[in-house]
Amino acid sequence: MAGAGPFAIPPSRGGALSGGLPGGASKSWSVRMDDQVKRDVLARTDIGAFIGQYVSLRKRGNDLIGLCPFHAEKTPSFHVHPDRGFFKCFGCGAGGDVFTFYQRHENATFGDALRALAKRAGVELQPDNPAAARARSEKEAILAANEAAAAFFHRVLRLAPEGAPARAYCERRGLSVATIEEFKLGYAPASWDALTRELESGGIDAEIALRAGLIKRGQRTYYDFYRDRLMIPTRSNTGEVVAFGGRTLGDEVPKYLNTSTTPVYVKGRGLFALERARRAAAKTGALIVVEGYLDCIALHQAGFTNAVAALGTSFTAEQAAELRKYAERIFVCFDADAAGSNATAKSIETLVAAGFTGYGVRVVLLPAGEDPDAFVRANGAEAFEGALNDALPWIRFSLDRRMERFSQGNEGPAEIAREAEQLVRSTPREEWDRWRQYVADRLGLSADDLRAVALRAQAQGAAQSGPRTPQFTRHAPAAELPTIEREILTVLLEEPALVDEYADRIPAEGFASARYRTLYEALVERRADLRLPSDVLAVLDDQGAAKETAIGLQAGDRSAIARFRGSTERRLQLDRIVESLRERADRARMKFLSDRIDALDGAREAVPQSERDEYLGLVEKLDRMARRRIGTKQP
Ligand code: UTP
Ligand code: MN
Repeated sequence: MAGAGPFAIPPSRGGALSGGLPGGASKSWSVRMDDQVKRDVLARTDIGAFIGQYVSLRKRGNDLIGLCPFHAEKTPSFHVHPDRGFFKCFGCGAGGDVFTFYQRHENATFGDALRALAKRAGVELQPDNPAAARARSEKEAILAANEAAAAFFHRVLRLAPEGAPARAYCERRGLSVATIEEFKLGYAPASWDALTRELESGGIDAEIALRAGLIKRGQRTYYDFYRDRLMIPTRSNTGEVVAFGGRTLGDEVPKYLNTSTTPVYVKGRGLFALERARRAAAKTGALIVVEGYLDCIALHQAGFTNAVAALGTSFTAEQAAELRKYAERIFVCFDADAAGSNATAKSIETLVAAGFTGYGVRVVLLPAGEDPDAFVRANGAEAFEGALNDALPWIRFSLDRRMERFSQGNEGPAEIAREAEQLVRSTPREEWDRWRQYVADRLGLSADDLRAVALRAQAQGAAQSGPRTPQFTRHAPAAELPTIEREILTVLLEEPALVDEYADRIPAEGFASARYRTLYEALVERRADLRLPSDVLAVLDDQGAAKETAIGLQAGDRSAIARFRGSTERRLQLDRIVESLRERADRARMKFLSDRIDALDGAREAVPQSERDEYLGLVEKLDRMARRRIGTKQP
């Protein structure tokens, strides 16, 4: 029976727990302090011996050389200079001191590297004042209590007779002994005081165990918080046990009991298995995020050692920022059900806000109803690898989700278009057109229509002031295909009187071909003198190049039919050409405006109302024209 009495930490033991943390240091815990520690660590660490733990090195002169751990190579180009305290790879350029090496190799932050290397070198990280020292030693004591609890749970699961039901449970769930060892899984026996007694006999203070969330205070005694549960320890990035998740072996509620916030653990800050996954992430730059502890463990067991779990809270900004430190790419692989899909959508937002952009966030879709654990166990690692390869860029997942609502008939295209446009704009600029097209195709609109619908919805409520000033002329018509240019000239050569009639409607700048443009300009210049086909060569007499082009056109392009058709047909043909040139110019102008609006929006600058209006006007006009064309085709 655990009473409060024997639970007090004997002074000597308290000293041992907080050993190496004298409270009297007067220096402030600051950059200067970090700097001092760093210099002490560098002075006390033999870089050759240190790196030698990770890389097999051999001596060459004063240096040590080996195969670079940061890139694949067959001949050694990785050099360590022990006397100068740095390493350098002549293959990939990696280089630096022991901190750089540790950070890169462990995918660790500088703070973590400092703590780990200081510990190894026996350099004290000294807190400044007694209060900080106390807090520090309390934290150390809680971590020690957690470590002791984890060891106890693990021992029970592996060896104790009362661990039998949990061993059977692990077997049912396909957890190997190696996995149980690797994650130091455990079992909290079905007892009210097994852990309490264990901690007591280990000399751990009851108050500390209480603060660690391992035991609770009852009326007269303390009792175990976790009973009859599979115990899953969560570790910090430096490897200490900071929290536990305890899963019922049956269908008790709640399914998981978790450590709530303690001095060493803030719910929603850490990620389960990140301390192992970040090492794997260092190689590929990618992390897999799953919902559940056991999803994560199952993935590790199947070889996906870059999996982490979000620990039962909804995914937080802090977790996203943490992931950002270790990976460029995230695979979100939540349960394939409605809840999982909602959680995925939320997580995407959080990740994108944390700075994962482009294709940095992908969504792994599993067959309906499955979770990663069930999937990988039923289908194997290769199938999961396939699912990773098929993962959708997050934007695609989000757009599909929006459009699902449309296909269910709950919302109109305007609402979808507006939302889709917003989503599209959180991708890099150069992706926008592509995803707009994707949405438009699925909604059965043209990309321009979609854009217009979105812009209109966006502009709603905005002041509708500013004059409409369409400025089609400001933009030169796009380069015409030579065939159109030839067509124009051929008609004009057949009936030169039309030059005067059409000169103002057909701008010379529209001609892409220099030859045709020269001829056209020459004709326009002499428009007043052109009556009959025979006038052409006469007026071009002094213009060698233009004349030659005209002869070529007259010889080659004038079919018998062309020669015998009448003036009305020629006018109709030119009218058609003029209209198509205009349309082309409109399209070019529309594209120009659309790009400009994107650019301004991208730079968060205001788009002039006149340009927005002009753009919308063009979209409408071209739309009308297209509809009319389709209309005329119908009998
Ligand atoms: P799930 O219900 O999907 O559990 O919750 P799971 O991980 O797949 O577990 P198994 O496969 O049924 O054993 C996902 C995660 O949500 C948190 C846990 O972290 C869990 O892993 N959770 C769930 C809780 O914290 N408490 C609960 O009661 C349930
Ligand atoms: Mn599950």
